[in-house]
Amino acid sequence: MSLLSALQRQKEIYTAGFSGRRPLVPTDAATLAQKAEEYCSKKAYAYIAGGAGAQDTIDNNRQGLRRWSIVPQMLRDVSERDLSITLLGRKLPSPLLAAPIGVLDLVHPEGDLAVARACSRLGVPMIYSNQASFAMEDCAAEMGESPRWFQLYWSKSDALVQSFLRRAEQCGCEAIVVTLDTTMLGWRPRDLNLGYLPFSYASGIGQYVSDPIFVELVGDPKTAAQVETEGGFSFTKLFNFIRLVRNYKGGGSFTQKFRSKLPVTAVRKFTDIYSRPSISWQDLGWLRKQTQLPILLKGILQAGDAQKALDHGVNGIIVSNHGGRQIGGAIAAIDALPDIVQVINGQIPVLMDSGIRDGADVFKALALGAEAVCLGRPYVYGLAIDGQLGVEAVFRNIIAEFELTMGLSGCSRVADISHDLLKRTQYYG
Ligand code: FNR
Repeated sequence: MSLLSALQRQKEIYTAGFSGRRPLVPTDAATLAQKAEEYCSKKAYAYIAGGAGAQDTIDNNRQGLRRWSIVPQMLRDVSERDLSITLLGRKLPSPLLAAPIGVLDLVHPEGDLAVARACSRLGVPMIYSNQASFAMEDCAAEMGESPRWFQLYWSKSDALVQSFLRRAEQCGCEAIVVTLDTTMLGWRPRDLNLGYLPFSYASGIGQYVSDPIFVELVGDPKTAAQVETEGGFSFTKLFNFIRLVRNYKGGGSFTQKFRSKLPVTAVRKFTDIYSRPSISWQDLGWLRKQTQLPILLKGILQAGDAQKALDHGVNGIIVSNHGGRQIGGAIAAIDALPDIVQVINGQIPVLMDSGIRDGADVFKALALGAEAVCLGRPYVYGLAIDGQLGVEAVFRNIIAEFELTMGLSGCSRVADISHDLLKRTQYYG
């Protein structure tokens, strides 16, 4: 039976339970997050779980999904259930993808590599983050023929954007996801209150330090600012400087890197150029000329923007509020979805993320017109608890629940999931 079969998954868990073994990775979202917190440092967990402002966009994502209830239909022969979909011409085993998530080495030393192995084992497409801890080529080497996409933050350097795109093409990425909602970092009180930003410690810059153009842009490290002496000496500063040098994945021994100041210079350069707040719709034409790969825009929440995306000839949209990390008090992604689906009217694929926590959520997003969904924080929690196996467990659990939700609602195929299987309700207080 397939790794993605719900019955197989239930059987495995209950059989192990009979021998006294409970799943290490909890099978529901709330317990999963709670357990992951135990496996993370305080700063790492705040960074992963936190959001912008009063955290209410995160709440909105959940409330938005809860406002829709599934209305199942009976007696429809669901003995065979097919979860597969075709997306951008590629057949996928289920409508789930791994959302691009940066800085994964915060929760597990193998970070993106462990996620790449898990995704490849399950056939789940992985979207490599621009802020990954490991270079895309290293992830690709773990994935065989399994599908992968690349997510781009539009850098101030055209040459760097071109280089990222070229590398993505060369390591087999099948699409480019341009994330539009992070032209600046949102106001994130959970990180601000701890004074913590992982990039300052050279985490999450794996795509940069492995890039020839970036290395050129960093230039001569000998001209680096003497960060460790700025504002006077302190042991905390020295300790953090050592951490930064250790995290830095560019070449050289620790002593060479420590002496050269290259890691500090690279972090500064990254901070200067990682994003270009001036990008506008006109710039898409330039991007279109740089690659033959399909381009998807991530972070669209407005029907008007969806229309513009169509007018500019992009190949897909990901409706997303970045998991509530960019703007406090923003619309839930699930609430933005129906209007966008209406505008797009089947012309290009519409995907969705932000708030997806279980199989029922996947079902609801599909019923509201998404062709596929990206899973975010839950797989990071799996990674924190049990590395590659933890990521596999999370995907298998959610896909299993999705299969059961589909079958128990009277659907044998993903195409059977329709809007009339949902009703707008208000069960929460
Ligand atoms: C993200 N997300 C993200 N998005 C992106 O385009 N590039 C990135 O590098 C990151 N990095 C990142 C780090 C962390 C810690 C989180 C939690 C999220 C956003 C991600 O792709 C996705 O939109 C959200 O995770 C979806 O929200 P939920 O379902 O995780 O709440």
